Amino acid sequence: MTTLIIAPGPLVGTTAVPADKSITHRSLLFAAIAEGESRVRNYLDGGDCRATLGVVRRLGVQVDESSAGEWRIHGRGLHGLQEPEEALDCVNSGTTARLLAGLMAGQPFHSVIVGSEQLRKRPMRRVVEPLRMMGADIAGRDGGRLLPLSFRGGAISGIDYEMPVASAQVKSCLLLAGMFAAGLTVVREPGPARDHTERMLAAMGAPVRRLGSALSIEQPRQPLTPLDITVPGDFSSAAFLLAAAAVVPDSDLHLTEVGVNPTRRGLLDALIEMGAEVSMDNWGEAVGEPTGDLHVRPGHLQAITLGGADIVTLIDELPVFAVLATQAHGTTVVKDAAELRVKETDRIATTVEELRKLGARIEATPDGFVVEGPTKLVGARVHSHGDHRLTMALAVAGMMAEGVTAIEEAECVSDSFPGFERVLARLGANLS
Ligand code: S3P
Repeated sequence: MTTLIIAPGPLVGTTAVPADKSITHRSLLFAAIAEGESRVRNYLDGGDCRATLGVVRRLGVQVDESSAGEWRIHGRGLHGLQEPEEALDCVNSGTTARLLAGLMAGQPFHSVIVGSEQLRKRPMRRVVEPLRMMGADIAGRDGGRLLPLSFRGGAISGIDYEMPVASAQVKSCLLLAGMFAAGLTVVREPGPARDHTERMLAAMGAPVRRLGSALSIEQPRQPLTPLDITVPGDFSSAAFLLAAAAVVPDSDLHLTEVGVNPTRRGLLDALIEMGAEVSMDNWGEAVGEPTGDLHVRPGHLQAITLGGADIVTLIDELPVFAVLATQAHGTTVVKDAAELRVKETDRIATTVEELRKLGARIEATPDGFVVEGPTKLVGARVHSHGDHRLTMALAVAGMMAEGVTAIEEAECVSDSFPGFERVLARLGANLS
């Protein structure tokens, strides 16, 4: 078990961030059902995406990893996946489990989806219920609310489904199932959940269409075209470095080629609203996704209120936003974020519990938290709860807390940000 020990100090310099986790998962799953060889460069080699890699291999897909950091994924076409002889292990990855459920629902074979102790606690009913409406034959623990889930395989039909929560995982699950269903599948979303799936599937020639907040898909008449992509940097990983540089005195940080898809960059908008000194240049595009270089320096932050449909655009960034809020002047309120309670951990409870150990004035509410600031944080021994994003948020807090902060069981950062410590060290962080 690794303890991350960190003392105050600025982040200075220029760095790239690891590749986008959401896009990496999708590139494996979508390339698996494309016709021919896909090439994926700069993929994320983290724990969650390795789980997806293992799963597609179990479905008979050959994936070669070159030493130059490229995957060659030998797609088996829409109807070429093989019945897996063993369970499909998603380890800690909720994205893998939920997207895979959509893919398995429409296959003509039996499959079983399993996961780690952490993943076995996370809700699956959100995908099982609509998939059963489509006619999928699914059995699972607690009536299909929890993993393991088993799919008998068979014919499914399109539905018109209004999602009760804004979730890219549910949306993507149903779009995948929709490509194997008879008739049209329509998914209506209550908020702008990340749209990588529809961007990538459209680029591969799938018949996916958007009309306002509704998406439709049907069985493709042509095979899906293989991918040839370079995955952009993950905004969700950049967020920790951005947040640190926005509050730790004397920081001056440049992040290169970060994905800045509007459905992902809610934290950037929040930082700007709080008065942080952030700018963006060198706009580009990768996989039909906007990218940019970000420059951030410490600013005088004001408290803000976050809530409503836009919460989904920074849902993964809310633990580190809580750290930012401890340094903002006034009362910061986060509401409409009950989804945080069903992430890798109950991120409302774990963020509040751990930040309080550092002296933060933060209170949990049923659907978010309230923070009073600014507060001088004081280093302490804190715990990761096995949650990568909480761990990195605590590291940001440690970069400004007086004295030393020790984060226990910090190895989970590699689920999404392998090399986190190395990047921090290169930027001058005070690690020991
Ligand atoms: C993800 C979607 C989000 C996010 C997760 C990755 C994805 O979850 O929290 O880290 O890649 O689709 P929900 O869509 O379930 O909110």
